[in-house]
Amino acid sequence: MLLDIVILAAGKGTRMKSSLPKVLHKVGGHSLLSHVLGAAKALESDNINIIIGHGAEIVRSEFSEEPVNFIEQTEQLGTGHAVQQALPYLRDNATALVLYGDVPLTPTATLRELLEQVREDAMSLLTVELDDPTGYGRILRNAQGNASAIVEQKDASKDQLAICEVNTGIMAVPTALLKEWLPNLSNENAQGEYYLTDVVEMASSNHIDINIVQADDEMDVLGVNNRVQQAELERYYQSVQAMILLEEGVSLLDPDRFDCRGELSAGSDVTIDVNCVFEGIVEIGNNVYIGPNCVITDSKIGDNTTIKANSVLEDTVIAGDSDIGPFARLRPGTELGKGAKIGNFVETKKAKVGEGSKINHLSYVGDAELGTGVNVGAGTITCNYDGVNKSKTTIGDGAFIGSNTSLVAPVTVASEATVGAGSTVAKDVAEGELAVARAKQRNIANWQKPVKK
Ligand code: UD1
Ligand code: CA
Repeated sequence: MLLDIVILAAGKGTRMKSSLPKVLHKVGGHSLLSHVLGAAKALESDNINIIIGHGAEIVRSEFSEEPVNFIEQTEQLGTGHAVQQALPYLRDNATALVLYGDVPLTPTATLRELLEQVREDAMSLLTVELDDPTGYGRILRNAQGNASAIVEQKDASKDQLAICEVNTGIMAVPTALLKEWLPNLSNENAQGEYYLTDVVEMASSNHIDINIVQADDEMDVLGVNNRVQQAELERYYQSVQAMILLEEGVSLLDPDRFDCRGELSAGSDVTIDVNCVFEGIVEIGNNVYIGPNCVITDSKIGDNTTIKANSVLEDTVIAGDSDIGPFARLRPGTELGKGAKIGNFVETKKAKVGEGSKINHLSYVGDAELGTGVNVGAGTITCNYDGVNKSKTTIGDGAFIGSNTSLVAPVTVASEATVGAGSTVAKDVAEGELAVARAKQRNIANWQKPVKK
């Protein structure tokens, strides 16, 4: 089956009270429109059209890499008018599926079901039963129980308003029929708009079957019109992510306090404590514990690693058997060998830390390469920036850096060398040497202690 997809995304989203076009607001770390586009791509359509209007340029540039056709609807004259704009790009022998840029979480399986209900002489409509149908178009059915029309809230009679089966807006129609019907829409209704929903009545009077698929869950078809609905969908999305992980055997100490805004995969015996946020692509091995309040972005965490509370990791690779934090900040380009330890208040950036090396307290290690078994004392700083250029610090296997050392890069401390505490090391230290670069201590006896004036 040839599939043409039309995604409506021209509306302003006034109720978001935002300068950002509505469809660029996010749920689960991805924009509303990218969720919809994901579903469209999963259906393997080779003709995806997005109707844009408000904020058209921003939307276009956000999705410039995507294989989609943008169509500008300069005036928003209604959902029917929006789909009309796409007609020249739709193929007569295809099925047209209409989706909405602000309805992000419709399962692909539901859309497939909808498409299976389309034939040459049948269209299909996705509906949902709501406890409170206010605001939605109501589904009218004839004596045989078949859908006969959709009536919008503002055009509905009192009896019609009592109907709880509503239009999600999502429908699939043989493109040829859509091309026949849309030019005949009228805007003589309460809102003065060209309603896409009027095609249902046209189908009915043309003896075209209207097959209804009902959504399993209201959340599958909920649109985002304001921040309240966005927050509702976010919670729902997160609860689904959490449930998937729990079923895969990951222990979430509180699934209601877990946020995945990207893709998280985890091995066996992984425990994630409360209030952690995962972004981008995060891979966790086996037997890993992540303490409370950690934020982990685009990182790989090897087996048997413990990340203690309040640690922040970005673009970091941990081989395994590591102990991190609490309060560690591993910035992009951090690579830790097996068994490396990064303790509290340590910041690393573009740092390769060899097997078994330790940076346990209060240090900054950036643009650095550390061998195996290195011990970096508390308060050590790699002075990697001279105000213009970044330079590298190299520390060999088994070297010992005393506490409160400044390593003025570019500089190398060779293997098995020792740096005395409090040193400012600006010259290379050779293998096995001891470097001491601090003022000599003087002890003054019989000195006069200050007295209060
Ligand atoms: C529409 C349906 C209603 C359904 C509801 C579900 C119509 C006439 N009504 O109503 O039956 O219950 O959705 O949420 O279709 N858009 C454009 N261009 C336009 C108008 C709208 O791109 O000219 C886009 C909007 O950005 C939005 C979507 O289409 O994403 C729906 O438009 P909206 O005006 O919100 O329709 P509703 O009144 O909610
Ligand atoms: Ca709407």
